[in-house]
Amino acid sequence: MASVAFDIQRMNRSDLSEVLEIEQACFTTPWSRSSFMVEVENTGRSYPLVVRARGREGVAPLMGYVCVWRVQGELWINNLAVHPSHRRRGLGTRLLQAALDMGRKLGCEHALLEVRLSNQQARRLYRHQGFHTVGLRRRYYPDDLEDALVMSASLRLRPTTRRGHDWMGSETR
Ligand SMILES: CC(C)(COP(=O)(O)OP(=O)(O)OC[C@H]1O[C@@H](n2cnc3c(N)ncnc32)[C@H](O)[C@@H]1OP(=O)(O)O)[C@@H](O)C(=O)NCCC(=O)NCCS
Repeated sequence: MASVAFDIQRMNRSDLSEVLEIEQACFTTPWSRSSFMVEVENTGRSYPLVVRARGREGVAPLMGYVCVWRVQGELWINNLAVHPSHRRRGLGTRLLQAALDMGRKLGCEHALLEVRLSNQQARRLYRHQGFHTVGLRRRYYPDDLEDALVMSASLRLRPTTRRGHDWMGSETR
């Protein structure tokens, strides 16, 4: 596996075209530009992050993102995606860890998310980051009525350990 240097930063308006490309490649019912605009502009409640490659010539490509909301002591992970050609290099894990660390800094006690029952890749990633299933929403997704699992993780435990990572900083793998 080739090493990749990357930066995790707050999402802003200028990221949205690349974010939408990834969103459309990843989901059957993708979020719209205006949905992401709400994430970007709702500062104080919404904390969207992007991961970009670093150390290359020209504009560094955007490789993935995570969108989270703080709601009364809970951190809701509302979206997480990595471009198909950049998967299985640890970026999804790093984005999720950055979001969880941010939740701790914001004083959240738990992180929560919904995931499709069939999404084994995402469920495994979440389990490895301390999430466990706390509920089932039957026929939750409007496009195909698939069930959603609700997963939760405590944020009271120590910050996620990893090599030289700062959620607004960078890391080389
Ligand atoms: C789910 C998703 C975000 C995971 O992103 P990712 O960047 O591939 O995630 P990671 O690389 O951190 O981890 C995935 C796997 O790669 C493995 N991996 C991580 N670094 C690795 C490396 N250097 N070499 C080989 N494998 C590696 C991880 O161990 C993990 O394997 P496992 O599932 O067998 O444990 C991505 O598949 C995606 O965008 N899916 C579509 C959108 C989606 O479903 N989002 C979630 C909605 S709830």
